[in-house]
Amino acid sequence: MAFENLIIEKKGNVAILTINRPKALNALNTLTLKEMQKAIFMLGDDPDVAVIILTGAGEKAFVAGADISEMKDFDVNQAISFSMEGHRTMDAFSHIEKVVIAAVNGYALGGGCEIALACDFIYASQNARFGLPEVTLGIFPGFGGTQRLPRLIGKGKAKELIFTGEMITAQQALELGIVNKIFPSENLMEESLKTASKIASNGQVGIRMAKRVIDAGFDVSLSEGSFFESKAWGLVFGTYDQKEGMNAFLEKRKPVYKGK
Ligand code: CAA
Repeated sequence: MAFENLIIEKKGNVAILTINRPKALNALNTLTLKEMQKAIFMLGDDPDVAVIILTGAGEKAFVAGADISEMKDFDVNQAISFSMEGHRTMDAFSHIEKVVIAAVNGYALGGGCEIALACDFIYASQNARFGLPEVTLGIFPGFGGTQRLPRLIGKGKAKELIFTGEMITAQQALELGIVNKIFPSENLMEESLKTASKIASNGQVGIRMAKRVIDAGFDVSLSEGSFFESKAWGLVFGTYDQKEGMNAFLEKRKPVYKGK
C-alpha cells in the first residue's frame, strides 16, 4: 500500500515506520493520523513483522506535534473529532500485539511526545527534545498526554511539564523515566534495530502476552493483575513456542520459534 506521509521499510523481522513530512517537522495532520492507523493494522497482520520502530524523517524532528495549521480554525466539534482521531491512532500503537519502539530523533513535542508515549518504550538521540507545549498555544494535550504521561512518571512531574509547556532534553527525559536509552544521533537507528532484532528473536507469543498483561495490569489492582498474569501464563503452555523454547534449552540448542 502506498502512503503519502509514511515510509515503511523492512529489515528482517523488523519494520521501520517513518513519518515523512519533514518540511512541517512531521506534524500530525488528519491524513497522517489515518495513514498511521492503516499502517499499524497492516503491520499487525504481517506475519513477517515481529517488531516495529517508529521514527521521523529528517534531521530535526521526530514529530513536532499535531498540525497547528490544520487545527487553528477548528470549532468545538471538529476539535473533538480531531482529538478522537488522535486517540484512535495512539491506541492503535498501544494496543497492537507486536512491540513498538519509538526512535526519537529530534523534537517530540505535543502530539509527537504523545505518540512516543503510546509506544512500548522510547530510545532517543542526544539531540532529542521532549515537551507538551500545548498550553503555550492556549490549549492542552489532546492525544493522550494528560493520561499516559502521569501514568509513566507520576502526577506531579507530569503536571509540571504540562502546566509549564517546557521542553526538556533527552538526558532530562531519561532521568524522568520517559526515555530508556540515549544514543548519538548517527547510532540511534542501528541501536534501535539491535534491540528490535533481539526482541524479534524471542518467542513472540510470550512477548504478546507479556505486553497485554503489563498494560492491562496497570489499570487494575495488583491482585487482579496477578490473577490475569496466571491465566495468561498458563495459556502460553498451549503453544508451540513454549514447547520449543523449553525443549531447545534442555537439548542445548537454539530455539526456532514460530510465533504460535
Ligand atoms: N504544526 C504545523 N507545522 C509545524 C509544526 C506543527 N506542530 N511544527 C513546526 N511546523 C512547521 C513550521 O510552521 C515551519 O513551517 P514553514 O517552514 O512553512 O514556516 C516548519 O515546520 C519548520 O518549523 P520552524 O521554522 O518553527 O523550525 P524551528 O527550528 O525554528 O523550531 C520547533 C522548531 C521548536 C519544533 C517549532 O517548530 C515549534 O515550536 N513547533 C510547534 C511545537 C508545538 O507547539 N507542538 C504542539 C502542537 S499542538 C498539539 O500537538 C496538540 C495535541 O496535543 C494533539
